[in-house]
Amino acid sequence: MSKNYNVAILGATGAVGTELLALLEERNFPLGNLKLLASERSAGQSIKFAGRELIIESVTKTSFDGVDIVLASAGGSISKKWLPIATKAGAVSIDNSSAFRMHPDVPLIVPEVNPESAHYHKGIIANPNCTTILMAVAIYPLHQVQPIQRIVASTYQSASGAGARAMEEVKIQSQAILNGEPAVPEILPYPLAFNLFPHNSPMTDNAYCEEEMKMVNETRKIFGDYDIRITATCVRVPVLRAHSEAINLEFAHPFNPDRAREILAKADGVKVVEDFSKNYFPMPIDASGKDDVLVGRIRQDISHPNGLELWLCGDQIRKGAALNAVQIAELLVAKDLI
Ligand code: A2P
Repeated sequence: MSKNYNVAILGATGAVGTELLALLEERNFPLGNLKLLASERSAGQSIKFAGRELIIESVTKTSFDGVDIVLASAGGSISKKWLPIATKAGAVSIDNSSAFRMHPDVPLIVPEVNPESAHYHKGIIANPNCTTILMAVAIYPLHQVQPIQRIVASTYQSASGAGARAMEEVKIQSQAILNGEPAVPEILPYPLAFNLFPHNSPMTDNAYCEEEMKMVNETRKIFGDYDIRITATCVRVPVLRAHSEAINLEFAHPFNPDRAREILAKADGVKVVEDFSKNYFPMPIDASGKDDVLVGRIRQDISHPNGLELWLCGDQIRKGAALNAVQIAELLVAKDLI
């Protein structure tokens, strides 16, 4: 008889937590018990899962007893506090926060890129940053054929990256502006409706924000290639869900765009969406709710003989977070790594 696994979702009421629940059901994950954990605010409320009402619990020291897999998406400080306790209780945690991503003992995994890294986990596996996951899925197949030397990424990131309450805020602000009232920011630092601003993650010493440095450092760790030169400009845009990215790649030799298209058409987790005659390419509304990263506008960079341009859209909550985490859990189950 095949084994079932007891799963706890830490942050079950959030944007990613909600998607985790939907994916566990949709993908028929071999579930035993399912425990929903959130803050005191939500404790006692219930969420429907597979036709049953599950009661949300607040987290305590004994919450992880008997749990095989923790899917954590409640933010970095919550992960730092609770995941070591989950590890001691014998659970394997897949953490969506940035708390452990760069730790040398913590594998950082995109299943389409480096599934083998799962073998060296010590109780915590990190789910990469959303923008990084989407880019990694789209460019790794090209990197395997000819190593990428330099990446210039420009991102157009939706409100969903800042959580469910930020998405709500954009709707409220949009309605306010349409009513001729001021757009008041509460979760995000500035009004996002009918506006955009450079990514709101904290600034680092080199004048890049943390989100940009995540793309740099995490991509290198996932690819296991610390020679790739990467620069990124991350921007928050008034899209509810799904991130977009303009990516410029530089190789040692020219990379034929038709060859790149052929490779990406066969790549796992990628869908090429291109109709040059209609100017139809990936858009966030088409990527929302989809598993695949949509890639298009694959073209020769006219400013550099070894350059290639592409454009992508991917669902930040799904492949950029919850789906990637569930795929890691599936990988652990398939390879018997729990
Ligand atoms: P709650 O809804 O009870 O606040 P998002 O990223 O969409 O904002 O979601 C954050 C998730 O993290 C929510 O499920 C939220 O639960 C949860 N969370 C926030 N603070 C805590 C906490 N102190 N302990 C456990 N879960 C928390």
